Amino acid sequence: MNGIIETDVQTIEVALGERRYPVWIGRGLLHDSARWRARLRGRHALVVSNTTVAPLYLERLAQGLDGLQWSSFLLDDGEAHKSFANVGRALDALATLGATRDACVIALGGGVVGDLAGFAAACWMRGIDFIQMPTTLLAMVDSSVGGKTGVNLPAGKNLVGAFHQPRAVVADIDTLATLPEREYCAGLAEVVKGAAIGDADFFAWLETHADALAARDTAKVIEAIARKVRYKAGVVARDETEQGERALLNLGHTFGHALETAGRYTTLLHGEAVAIGMLLAARLSERLGMSGAPDSARLQHLLARLGLPVSMPTGSDPEQLLALMRLDKKNTAGTLRLILWRGIGRAQIVGGADEAAVLAVLREASAAASHPA
Ligand code: NAD
Ligand code: GLY
Repeated sequence: MNGIIETDVQTIEVALGERRYPVWIGRGLLHDSARWRARLRGRHALVVSNTTVAPLYLERLAQGLDGLQWSSFLLDDGEAHKSFANVGRALDALATLGATRDACVIALGGGVVGDLAGFAAACWMRGIDFIQMPTTLLAMVDSSVGGKTGVNLPAGKNLVGAFHQPRAVVADIDTLATLPEREYCAGLAEVVKGAAIGDADFFAWLETHADALAARDTAKVIEAIARKVRYKAGVVARDETEQGERALLNLGHTFGHALETAGRYTTLLHGEAVAIGMLLAARLSERLGMSGAPDSARLQHLLARLGLPVSMPTGSDPEQLLALMRLDKKNTAGTLRLILWRGIGRAQIVGGADEAAVLAVLREASAAASHPA
């Protein structure tokens, strides 16, 4: 990170009726155990991390666990390890630790670690505490907040899971110093998504500060994370279990998941697929008369400035993508249910989306990717 001198810690409270938890965003938070240790209630803690993140940051966290009975469980790195088998192993680690009902699981890593650790916490003795310590930008702005936990099955991504809210989220942005550039940019896509869906002022702020964000300016990164988390916390507070509004957070996801699946999860990172997916959703919305070309152009320009892909991978097959979109979890009764765009800062859930229009957008984007202007 650059431009680092002194930055305050931002605190955002996620409020779900009587239940509340803080999201702390700032520098040096892993070291700042006086702050987060108070969120641990018992004597046992299991730190779940992975083989990439633990060598970098486990020691920093461990100094705050003095006096507790604790152990760690490390996943191999990668989405493939967000599996049911590894939940079983994490639960075995809790059993070996002798974890009681007041034990806490601490997730130190990106979204893969956070989703699996949270699900293990939801299962052990029908639900114990967990704390999210996200170390990717994507996890800081999205997956660590809101309580969606779970794992993948061979049949599909995130098919098993539970809503289980953390006791606290500790986003130490010093950890972003080691995050590879592509992963950092993928996280920025999730920031843009929040602004595109629900906050036009934030979108304009991102346009103003895109260069600083691309250069990882500390103060701007903290502000961007805080604004996205504040927006998401509001949505989750109104619709914790996705009965309505929370589905809007999936703008671009149906297109994006189809692109990820078509690329066998090796071509695009999730955030990159979401960036392209948002643009496809914007073009479809234009075609359906819901939004205008200038808004799509602003979205495309911002994503490109933040180092994100703005066209489909060459060789994408529109018919295959449409078939994959038909398998999306959000669909109902055999019709496509999409999150579409009403321009900067406004999104809408559309059931029974016009498949011919979807196919036309996919064909156009595929042709443009094969023959760039
Ligand atoms: P990830 O957890 O795979 O992390 C990306 C890569 O960065 C990994 O190789 C990881 O080891 C590495 N890494 C993590 N922190 C690092 C650091 N500080 N320095 C160096 N390397 C580091 O991926 P992700 O993008 O964080 O999360 C994606 C996952 O999140 C997916 O499984 C997705 O389904 C899930 N997700 C969940 C929600 C939710 O609401 N629960 C929302 C969005 C995404
Ligand atoms: N990532 C979408 C959600 O948390 O609902």
